[in-house]
Amino acid sequence: MRRKVIAGNWKMNMLPNEAIKFIEELSAQVKNTSNEIILCVPYTDLFYSLLTVQNTNIKIGAQNMHWEEKGAYTGEISGQMLKSIGVEYVIIGHSERRKYFAETDETVNKKIKSALQNELKPIVCVGETLEQREAGNHENIVRNQVKLALEGIQSEQLEKIIIAYEPIWAIGTGRTATSNDANEMIKTIRNEVANLYSEEVAQKLIILYGGSVKSENSKELFSTSDIDGGLVGGASLKPDEFAKICLSV
Ligand code: PGA
Repeated sequence: MRRKVIAGNWKMNMLPNEAIKFIEELSAQVKNTSNEIILCVPYTDLFYSLLTVQNTNIKIGAQNMHWEEKGAYTGEISGQMLKSIGVEYVIIGHSERRKYFAETDETVNKKIKSALQNELKPIVCVGETLEQREAGNHENIVRNQVKLALEGIQSEQLEKIIIAYEPIWAIGTGRTATSNDANEMIKTIRNEVANLYSEEVAQKLIILYGGSVKSENSKELFSTSDIDGGLVGGASLKPDEFAKICLSV
């Protein structure tokens, strides 16, 4: 049985005092769950969040990193830097980064490798646009994103990786993929991983759904055969709402 994972993606929201208050409120509500709970917070909240989650079952992730260890990359943060303060997870290749910050399948691949080298666990985002779905290309697009993201990654490293399927048309739009559509796409991803590695590796891989997940739809989504949890944006900004999602399965 794969574990359930619920990851919040705060995006560019929450000041440190808000982060601390949020974590205090959330941790009291989720302390008895065996689901894995991750909060991916802005860089400026990382240190405060790491201190506040001590003695709780909440884990902390960043939302991006650079693939080089150090050097002349003004404004960037490396995997080594994240690891040095105790960060455990890092989102890589979120569609907003691909869209606004010129992230490509190639940079995604470099970042995943660097994250693994630094013992960070990458949450790798893939997903199609509305045009690609309407043209019927979504399966090929997402299969290809998975293949390029994982190029040169060894099968034993897959245990440290989480994939998040996030159809771009469902992100922040209130338009959720149906649980059936999302589950089918996640099966497609699992199938691609089985082709690239083995059925055993594919069956162990944690694959999340993201895109307008909220407490009203999380149970249905997370109860399907292949969806192992969610990457939650907007609905992760309110502790009560996010707690409900964390406890929905
Ligand atoms: P959303 O964002 O839940 O607000 O749609 C999800 C994401 O971008 O990870």
